[in-house]
Amino acid sequence: MSTEQAQAQAQDTSAWFEDQAFWNDFYPHLFSPERAAQAVRIVERSPLFRFPAGSRVLDLCCGPGLFTVPLARAGHTVTGVDLSAPMLSRARTHCREAGVEARFVEAEMLGFAEPGAFDAVVNMFTSFGYYDRHEDNLQVLRNTHTSLAPGGTLLIDVVGKEILARLDERVSLSERDGKLLVQRDTVLDDWTRLRSDWYSIEGSHAATGSMTLFLYSAGELRDMLGAAGFTDVRFHGDYDGAPYDHRAERLIAVATKGVDVRGN
Ligand SMILES: C[S@@+](CC[C@H](N)C(=O)[O-])C[C@H]1O[C@@H](n2cnc3c(N)ncnc32)[C@H](O)[C@@H]1O
Repeated sequence: MSTEQAQAQAQDTSAWFEDQAFWNDFYPHLFSPERAAQAVRIVERSPLFRFPAGSRVLDLCCGPGLFTVPLARAGHTVTGVDLSAPMLSRARTHCREAGVEARFVEAEMLGFAEPGAFDAVVNMFTSFGYYDRHEDNLQVLRNTHTSLAPGGTLLIDVVGKEILARLDERVSLSERDGKLLVQRDTVLDDWTRLRSDWYSIEGSHAATGSMTLFLYSAGELRDMLGAAGFTDVRFHGDYDGAPYDHRAERLIAVATKGVDVRGN
C-alpha cells in the first residue's frame, strides 16, 4: 500500500454501510429480479406476513423497496426508512411503476423512532447488526419497540449463526448477467462477528467490497429482544413458518410488543 493510500485509509472513519459504492457495485446481486419476485411471494403467502388489513408497516432499511412495494399493494400504509438517498430514489421509482404509494424517510436506523406509529416493523435480508458497538444494535431494537403500537409485531430476518456454522464452504461463487460474484466469509472474534468480502468480476474489471457485522444465534437475539422490551419472541427457519432448527434457511425472529396499561 502506498503512503497516500495508507493516509486515505487512516482518514476514512466512515462505516462500510455508509459507502454508496458498495451498494451500487453489488446492486445487481443483492436486488435481483429473482429476489424481487421472492419478496412478492413472501408478502402474499407467508403466514409471518399476515398483518391485519390496513396495518401501518415500517420497512426498516427498505433498500430499493423490494418489500415496500408488495406491502403497499397488499393495502398496508407503508413507511420505508433507509440511510441511502439513491436507494430511496430507486424505491420511489419502483412504487411509481407499481402504482402504489409509500412514505419514505432518509434516516439511520440508530436514530429513527416514531413513538407508537406502527403496527408492524420489518427488517429484511440481514439489515441488522451493522454497528460495531453491541449497544448501538440493541438501541436499534429499542427504537423499533418505541415505534410500535402496543400489540405490534417486529419481524427481523438475518443469516443465523447456527446456519453459517452448519455450512462447510466459506467461499461461494455465482454468476449474474455475465458478472461473477465471489463471496468469502470470515468468522471473527470467537463467532461474534462476520466479515464478508465480495468481488464482482466482469471481464477484466473487478469491484471489491467488504461488510463486517454481528452474527447472532437465536438465543442471543432472544436476549437482545427481551432487553429491548419485547415480551413474546418466536423464531422460524423459513417463511412457511417452519421451526428454527437444523434445517433452517434463515433466522427469522417475530417479536411482539406487549400491551400494558401504561401503553409502554
Ligand atoms: C441488505 S440491504 C436490504 C434491503 C431490503 N431490506 C431488502 O430486503 O431488499 C440493506 C439496506 O440497509 C440500508 N442501510 C445500511 N445501513 C443502514 C443504517 N445504518 N440505517 C438505515 N439504513 C441502512 C442500505 O442502504 C440498504 O438499502
